[in-house]
Amino acid sequence: MSDDRWNAVDAYTTDLLQPPDPVLEAVISDSAELPNIAVSAAQGQFLNVLALAIRARRILEVGTLGGYSAIWMARALPAAGRLISLELDPHHAEVARRNIARAGLESKVEVRVGPALDSLAALKSEGGEPFDLVFIDADKRNTPEYFSAAVDMSHAGSLIVVDNVVRQGRLIDPGSDDPDTKGMRRLIEEMGADPGLSATVIQTVGVKGWDGFAFALVVET
Ligand code: SAH
Ligand code: DHB
Ligand code: MG
Repeated sequence: MSDDRWNAVDAYTTDLLQPPDPVLEAVISDSAELPNIAVSAAQGQFLNVLALAIRARRILEVGTLGGYSAIWMARALPAAGRLISLELDPHHAEVARRNIARAGLESKVEVRVGPALDSLAALKSEGGEPFDLVFIDADKRNTPEYFSAAVDMSHAGSLIVVDNVVRQGRLIDPGSDDPDTKGMRRLIEEMGADPGLSATVIQTVGVKGWDGFAFALVVET
């Protein structure tokens, strides 16, 4: 589902607000053989705004692809800030590391290869400091498990953002047997059942079509 007006509005505002950026353009062109599913420029800037607003020092991403969203978020980090991004596909991770290096962010960003469920378990057992911001954007069927792990590694005030929740409205199909849709339905149910969270879903239209983000602020751990 798409609409020329959605694309035109994204083009108009992006032209004024996300000026040409050689590093990010190179990320896109170097990711040409990867699936075209990175966040848009407007959405990347939005992740950057969120990271700046909460003064994030530690960021976790699930689903790296070519590093586009990681670069937007890592640009918001202070000098001592760190972003860890989890990616299943070694080739995606390799492209991402190259892009992150070109962005001058290799000292701040670490890409870990493997199934995110394993990487999250490893991160938990390492017992590092909690994350201030988590962006979940990998395989959709496991999103509730990624979200639980993110909550476990949060502090009061941590923000968890989930991409691709609305799925062109498929979210509200109770009979769906699509595991990705079922994953997102389970996510929203679990968010609603957790009294320690302040959570919402915001639908979006634009160059990525009709979709939406879930936001959960960890109020109490
Ligand atoms: N956040 C990126 C886009 C991520 S696309 C951006 O906006 O720029 C989703 C990524 O999740 C893909 O690279 C895919 O390989 C990865 N992925 C899929 N299943 C995964 C899993 N089980 N563990 C970790 N990463 C996974
Ligand atoms: C898909 C994944 C994404 O993260 C996204 O933003 C859009 C599409 C997909 O797997 O099709
Ligand atoms: Mg996505």
